[in-house]
Amino acid sequence: MTGDVLPISSPDLDDTADVVAWRTLFVTVFAMPATSAEETEAALPAYRDQRLTGVKEDGRWVATFRSWAGDSAVPGPALTGMPTAGGDDDGSRTVSTELVSSVSVSPSHRRRGLLTRMMRDCLDDAASRGVAVASLFASEAAIYGRFGYGLATTVHDLAVDTRAAQRWHAGAPADPGRVRPSDDDEIAEVGPALFEAARRTMPGAVGRSPIAWLRQLERVPPSKGPDGPRFRAVHVGPDGTVDGWVRLRTESSWQDGAPRYTATVDDLTGATPAVVAALWRYALGLDLVTTLKAEHRGAGELLGHLPVDTRAVRVSAEADGHWWRVLDVPAALRSRSWSRAGRVVLEVVDPGGPAQGRWSLDVDEQGRAEVTPTDAAADVTLPVHTLPAVLTGVWDLAPLLAAGRLDEHSPGAVRRLHDLARVAPVALSAVQGF
Ligand SMILES: CC(C)(COP(=O)(O)OP(=O)(O)OC[C@H]1O[C@@H](n2cnc3c(N)ncnc32)[C@H](O)[C@@H]1OP(=O)(O)O)[C@@H](O)C(=O)NCCC(=O)NCCS
Repeated sequence: MTGDVLPISSPDLDDTADVVAWRTLFVTVFAMPATSAEETEAALPAYRDQRLTGVKEDGRWVATFRSWAGDSAVPGPALTGMPTAGGDDDGSRTVSTELVSSVSVSPSHRRRGLLTRMMRDCLDDAASRGVAVASLFASEAAIYGRFGYGLATTVHDLAVDTRAAQRWHAGAPADPGRVRPSDDDEIAEVGPALFEAARRTMPGAVGRSPIAWLRQLERVPPSKGPDGPRFRAVHVGPDGTVDGWVRLRTESSWQDGAPRYTATVDDLTGATPAVVAALWRYALGLDLVTTLKAEHRGAGELLGHLPVDTRAVRVSAEADGHWWRVLDVPAALRSRSWSRAGRVVLEVVDPGGPAQGRWSLDVDEQGRAEVTPTDAAADVTLPVHTLPAVLTGVWDLAPLLAAGRLDEHSPGAVRRLHDLARVAPVALSAVQGF
């Protein structure tokens, strides 16, 4: 170690070997299969629209970082029940987002501030471009709070006893169409538009890029699991249109001569809750399978509410999903639809950061917010890392108040903010990571 501050630089996208070396660091750090020139070249078109940075020492990459412009779903009128703008307004809303991924530092160079410098560089750049929030999935929950990130969503992994889950309560949605076998070619064709529509109704959710689709369909490494049977099916609506799909894989296991297979749902998306329910019905009905697993289901997953035996669906893990760093408070607050009219003065605490300030949030009868800087007394004070919970609206703010994650200056102020913000989404798809 020289003691010199190593500069942040970018891999040369016209030099495949340099990009392979850059990728090799993060795939090694994340214990992913080794990357190749071929795979790197497949990723290059996407990289050309992204911001790849890192730190090099003596010609070797010792840190990597990647970010790109996108958007995240926030509650729209479809979720808050407020009127849409009419015309082609589908009732969804998004907020401009810097999506952050490929964050790695070589074990030889950790705890020397490299992540801190790369993150600041990224956030400063995104803020200068007027991006409202930055979003990432964290490997460890203790890393990103120091940079102003806070929890925006949680994700659930499910483990289902398929036999106990067969019988559904009388009011469960009836299948509005039928499920038929399919393949990845059909899903590649119909999936993108359906996924995009579904994720826009799920606060926090981000879109799936072409390369993310290739990964999802296991057309580029890494594959989602050991080689083995893959089942693909689509749901067809009454008018013959495909309006959902499921992709799952099975693993065989026999115990005492009886089949005890596990099926894992890699993807399940439907245009409506009834379609999602029909696809779950299909997944639960596979012969030989006694355990069904699903990862990264969002807040509002309906599977657990369908069987009579509610214990049949177990949340095997509840983990943090999207972490957001708010960069532009007015833009972020204005982006979403609010659940009722009202006014709350928010003091956002972000020492030295772009979110610091006092803002009047005025919501009209249509659920639209006006956000203005104000000197009026604050009703609620919240650190920047609690703001994402207010923006996605999927959190109950009362326990956050009890835990000191925000503070109120007049009785009931957090309850009023909660009532403005709260939405109850239904998960129509798995939550996409990065
Ligand atoms: C996480 C990682 C990128 C951190 O890089 P780094 O360059 O060592 O981080 P910094 O030196 O800038 O650390 C900044 C601060 O975060 C803390 N920190 C860093 N990693 C942390 C972790 N995993 N858990 C808790 N705190 C952590 C540091 O202790 C330091 O605290 P301080 O400011 O109080 O001294 C690096 O450890 C790494 O590559 N880990 C494996 C891959 C990974 O998890 N990547 C993140 C993907 S989302």
